[in-house]
Amino acid sequence: MRQVLTALTDELKRLKAEGVAAVSVTPEALAGLQRVVRARAIAQPSDDVSATPAEPLPVPVKTSNVAPPAVSPTVPVADKLPSPPQVRLPEGDKQTKWDALLETVRQDPVCRAQLRPGKQVVLGVGDLNARIMFVGEAPGAEEEVQGEPFVGPAGQLLTRMIAAMGLSREEVYIGNIMNWRPQMPVNADGVQFGNRPPTPEEMAYCLPYLRAQIEIVDPGLIVALGATAAHGLLGAGTFKALGEVRGSWRDFSGRPLMITYHPSYILRNQSNRSKRMIWEDLLKVMERAGLPISDKQRGFFLGK
Ligand code: URA
Repeated sequence: MRQVLTALTDELKRLKAEGVAAVSVTPEALAGLQRVVRARAIAQPSDDVSATPAEPLPVPVKTSNVAPPAVSPTVPVADKLPSPPQVRLPEGDKQTKWDALLETVRQDPVCRAQLRPGKQVVLGVGDLNARIMFVGEAPGAEEEVQGEPFVGPAGQLLTRMIAAMGLSREEVYIGNIMNWRPQMPVNADGVQFGNRPPTPEEMAYCLPYLRAQIEIVDPGLIVALGATAAHGLLGAGTFKALGEVRGSWRDFSGRPLMITYHPSYILRNQSNRSKRMIWEDLLKVMERAGLPISDKQRGFFLGK
């Protein structure tokens, strides 16, 4: 249970660092969490979680109709992983290299061990000659089913953001730090509920596969979407809050790296201010990539 609470706390801290002020929790899930906290207070009075046994969780709560998970006893965090793989790409053109990389990732026993039945590892997608590469965090529920990054709600928003830049999804390359969906507890039907950010060990394991994609595509610039992707590229602990680094150019292996918000942040935070901030970052990307920018685009509020 400690792992469940730690994973939950970590996710709430991450959301808070991204500026999220409220999360949706069903009344049933909230009651379940409060029961856990009270039970821990009785069983382990010295535990810090028990400091507020009868208090509501310190989260502004909006209710939703999403079913709460039936939580299994442990969160299977892959923190004892072997050393990251050494990727050797074959001779040949980009497609040959990419196909070989996909097969390598699909056969990787560590990646395979993270998959639930019927689910897939996920490699990037898009133009192997793209000038711009977007890098997100990890596959979610839809992505591990389809085997393609950014096809769920956040992905649909990312596709609209790319369209607002005057490009199509097929003209850029979209990848993730992670090749598998970080595991969370499953409900009684064996269905994973919710997502958690990958651990530094999980990201370190998958990073060579992202580097190989960067080597193949050879993009002029990279856009990191959200704090986790930025930490995965820049290194854990390089910044505390995304606000410290977003909107400014960094370097990743000699390539310009723009850090901006993850589209899921905009889905949770629909204010014009946050939409404008992410759009300003994308305008910088367009400028640096030499894309034409109309007056309409300059004055645009994403999603308006
Ligand atoms: N979020 C990500 O970071 N990547 C995906 O592929 C989907 C959602």
